[in-house]
Amino acid sequence: MAVVILSAGKADIPQIKKVLTQYLLETELAKSNIDLFIVAEYNKKIIGCACLDNSSDVLELRSIAVLPGWKNKGVGRKLVNTLRSRARGMSDRLYVRTTASGFFSKMGFIELNNSYKPNIWQDCACCDKLKICKQVPMVLELR
Ligand SMILES: CC(C)(COP(=O)(O)OP(=O)(O)OC[C@H]1O[C@@H](n2cnc3c(N)ncnc32)[C@H](O)[C@@H]1OP(=O)(O)O)[C@@H](O)C(=O)NCCC(=O)NCCS
Repeated sequence: MAVVILSAGKADIPQIKKVLTQYLLETELAKSNIDLFIVAEYNKKIIGCACLDNSSDVLELRSIAVLPGWKNKGVGRKLVNTLRSRARGMSDRLYVRTTASGFFSKMGFIELNNSYKPNIWQDCACCDKLKICKQVPMVLELR
């Protein structure tokens, strides 16, 4: 049995929330915008998820997580590769704000200076935690 990557549907929301809450990642987006999500499944069980958010000025990879027992087995790479393929044709660049910069470096993303965050993201510009935020801005050129 192989790990498969599929578009998510409403019925997947509870399992996606379970994956995200393992790492205290926010789950609102899955509830409000499930169509943006993909899932990694093994034997019909969701073991990972990720989201391609095009609801703001920039195209952003969000909410990527893999269940603890499945980490370091190539599932995160499959999720990123799927979203990268979908992102081509939608934009020239794919952004991420992440605490897992080592992983995204391996996926070809380049770190940006923190000072760019408020220019790229409106929610960063308005955020009172901007100065202490640990999320690293990164970008992947899609051309
Ligand atoms: C980050 C995460 C999604 C990676 O998924 P994964 O399935 O474990 O990653 P993969 O097995 O596909 O790893 C691909 C490569 O990245 C490396 N890698 C994985 N996580 C890494 C990390 N945190 N730091 C550095 N390298 C990492 C792997 O060693 C592998 O390298 P290789 O190709 O040289 O062997 C997963 O670790 C996770 O769910 N983390 C917790 C949630 C999280 O932090 N999400 C990001 C929020 S933006």
